[in-house]
Amino acid sequence: MKSNGGSEAAKRRAGEAAAEAVEDGDVVGLGTGSTAAHAIRVLGRAVDAGLDVTGIPTSHQSRQVAREAGIPLVTLADATPDLAIDGADQFCGDDGGPFHLVKGGGAAHAREKVVDTAADRLLVVADPSKRTDSLDHPVPVEVLPDAAPVVEARLADLGGDPTLRAAERKDGPVVTDNGNLVLDCAFGSIADPAALAADLSALAGVVEHGLFVDCTAAVYVGREDSVDVLER
Ligand code: 5RP
Repeated sequence: MKSNGGSEAAKRRAGEAAAEAVEDGDVVGLGTGSTAAHAIRVLGRAVDAGLDVTGIPTSHQSRQVAREAGIPLVTLADATPDLAIDGADQFCGDDGGPFHLVKGGGAAHAREKVVDTAADRLLVVADPSKRTDSLDHPVPVEVLPDAAPVVEARLADLGGDPTLRAAERKDGPVVTDNGNLVLDCAFGSIADPAALAADLSALAGVVEHGLFVDCTAAVYVGREDSVDVLER
């Protein structure tokens, strides 16, 4: 599974600690990425031990990890998630919040945002390398394939520097689970994430962007031997 840096021990601790928040009977949104996968595997072991949990995956990748872990799966048509556990490429915010995120390193941010914001609580799992005072990670923007050139121009109008995401293991662009393309758009330091999020959402052809503004209930920051829990 692709890892975006950070120590595996720290990611595992974050995932394990967030999974402890899951209670018997919960429906859990299952996030995408290497850190969220740790939480999914722990939940799988808890299911084996008798915990009644069902999952709603946020991507093909998280569905696969959840299947391997033995977690029964449903869809948003069947249930509303009590909580979601998901990773982030970058987050800002101190204890007490608000927390803002950049997500979409796995090109799954469209479904992640649907599932994560449908949940009563979003728990973010991260290692310390993801924390920043001000978001400056390029923002993934999922676009309809035909709209990519137009959206690229609009993103430049907004002060961004978009790059079409290329596939790592074959020629051509990354294609999302939804059949779309991803423009990774650098904006430098993002002074007002809410305003930029609104501008991006307003662009025709944009399916979803990776700015998650103040929708996080807690961030579990894993370290080699401990976990800090920052709460909204
Ligand atoms: C996928 C995501 C991931 O949650 C994000 O990229 C973090 O991944 P990792 O835990 O592997 O660092 O947003 O779209």
